[in-house]
Amino acid sequence: MRKIIIDTDPGQDDAVAILLALASSEIEVLGITAVAGNVPLALTQKNARIICELAGRPDIKVFAGAKRPMLRELVTAEHVHGKTGLNGPEWPEPEMPLQDTHAVPFIIETLREQDAGTVTLCVLGPLTNIALALVQAPDIAPRIQEIILMGGGFFEGGNITPTAEFNIYVDPHAAKVVFGAGIPLVIMPLDVTHQALTTARRIEAFRALGNRSGIATAEMMDFFERFDEEKYGTDGGPLHDPNVIAYLLEPDIYKGRKVNVEIETASELTMGMTVVDWWGVTDRAPNALWIKDLDDDRFFDLLIRRFKSLP
Ligand code: RIB
Ligand code: CA
Repeated sequence: MRKIIIDTDPGQDDAVAILLALASSEIEVLGITAVAGNVPLALTQKNARIICELAGRPDIKVFAGAKRPMLRELVTAEHVHGKTGLNGPEWPEPEMPLQDTHAVPFIIETLREQDAGTVTLCVLGPLTNIALALVQAPDIAPRIQEIILMGGGFFEGGNITPTAEFNIYVDPHAAKVVFGAGIPLVIMPLDVTHQALTTARRIEAFRALGNRSGIATAEMMDFFERFDEEKYGTDGGPLHDPNVIAYLLEPDIYKGRKVNVEIETASELTMGMTVVDWWGVTDRAPNALWIKDLDDDRFFDLLIRRFKSLP
């Protein structure tokens, strides 16, 4: 059983990642912590609860975290995700409660209470909550089993600027804290997520499941993909965040390399760039497993197989 905390800014692709985790008996979700990102925090925490209720899991503890990045102003992505962040289906108002505790103390207390090295952080949005926890309680760093995060881009460049991917761009200083903390990191960058496209056939496979989770997922993808289809001229858009959870379940779907990754925080032109020493041309120590390729058919087959067990 892998114990995880999901840190997230739902976001349709975050929603699919959360559903995959809740559909997988190998995973115990200790809590879901929301962060400002795709849309403001008031919406990301609400959207996280909407998805837990869609999955029939109103028992999951959802926490609200940082309202804005550590230093920079918040940049959101309504142009991709829509005004609510979960555009596509019609959603009922969530009834399950938001936890009173702030996400950052929840992350700290959970890591201190659980046996060292047994909790994985699955990070699907800007890294603000994680960095705040590490700054406030450096003792938790060696207690984290692994951080698996969707973020960055090197061979694919950026998606919010020519050089930066959204999650890192929104809070580059938080990313710098996390990448420099000496914690085992697995990075799912645009280099791999751009190969995971929600083609028409794949969306129909979700709809054909016939359960409310499959149908809602198809409707979320119908909405979410339109911006990237237009931009990249592809059949379908990249399904980013579920790769973080899929890596936990079937890591051999993925191929990568241990490399050094540094974060640009000085130049406005390249702010938030993940500078990857892929060819080992510096003496900077490797600090992350950078995933570059996947078997996209196996990824979508895994999603469909697991989604069968959802309501
Ligand atoms: O750049 C893609 C990432 O930014 C995904 O996590 C998406 O949900 C947005 O947060
Ligand atoms: Ca996200």
